[in-house]
Amino acid sequence: MPLIEKIANQNGTIGVWELKETADDLLKTVELNPADTERLESFKTENRQKEFLATRILLQNLIPENTPTIHRDKFGKPSLINSDLNISITHSADLAAIILSDKNIGIDVEQRHRNIDKVVTRFACPAEIEFIEKSNDPQLVKILLWSAKEAIFKCCGIQGVQFNEQIKITPFDYNAQSNFSGALRHPDKEVSYELFFRIIKNNILVYCVQH
Ligand SMILES: CC(C)(COP(=O)(O)OP(=O)(O)OC[C@H]1O[C@@H](n2cnc3c(N)ncnc32)[C@H](O)[C@@H]1OP(=O)(O)O)[C@@H](O)C(=O)NCCC(=O)NCCS
Repeated sequence: MPLIEKIANQNGTIGVWELKETADDLLKTVELNPADTERLESFKTENRQKEFLATRILLQNLIPENTPTIHRDKFGKPSLINSDLNISITHSADLAAIILSDKNIGIDVEQRHRNIDKVVTRFACPAEIEFIEKSNDPQLVKILLWSAKEAIFKCCGIQGVQFNEQIKITPFDYNAQSNFSGALRHPDKEVSYELFFRIIKNNILVYCVQH
């Protein structure tokens, strides 16, 4: 069972699954409701099916009794039915992860060596690009900033956020600390976030908690 990390702290509980098994094998270990079965059948690739199934298995692992079902709003943001907890979901090519919390949270995982050079100016402002370029590991910092902003986007619940102008990450010493901070400044919402990162099997996992 490749539940490779379970992190529980005051910010919530995170489960991380390594996508090793086939979709057929995953399907044997999870009970799906009719809506989830329909969604599973709509996916064209096995990878997408695996990501989806892994998130349901993670939820079953973290809440084994009376496991709630997941609803998605019209923008794709997930929430739990029959539970007061909030949920956020992410997947990369080889991992899937969920976070559950009574706080407002968001999570994102990206492969550490993914090439995102083409979109840097779309998600980072000039000061953040300087932070990336002056660091001793620009690739790591690039992915960290991108992932942090995706996590904040998932948490904030609003559409049409301009990542480079409306979400800012405060530079921090990523060699010495795993927590950092960010803020969303949008006409509809101004919020600060605490962020945390971990490196797991060549992936960078970032989650945020709204202040
Ligand atoms: C929706 C989005 C956040 C998904 O992120 P991603 O890195 O592509 O994919 P992830 O695997 O990390 O996350 C996927 C999960 O996010 C969740 N999600 C989708 N839309 C969401 C939303 N509007 N709010 C919160 N969560 C959302 C879903 O649970 C989804 O998993 P599921 O389809 O299995 O249920 C992303 O595609 C997006 O639209 N980002 C904003 C657009 C943008 O401006 N991006 C960058 C500018 S350079």
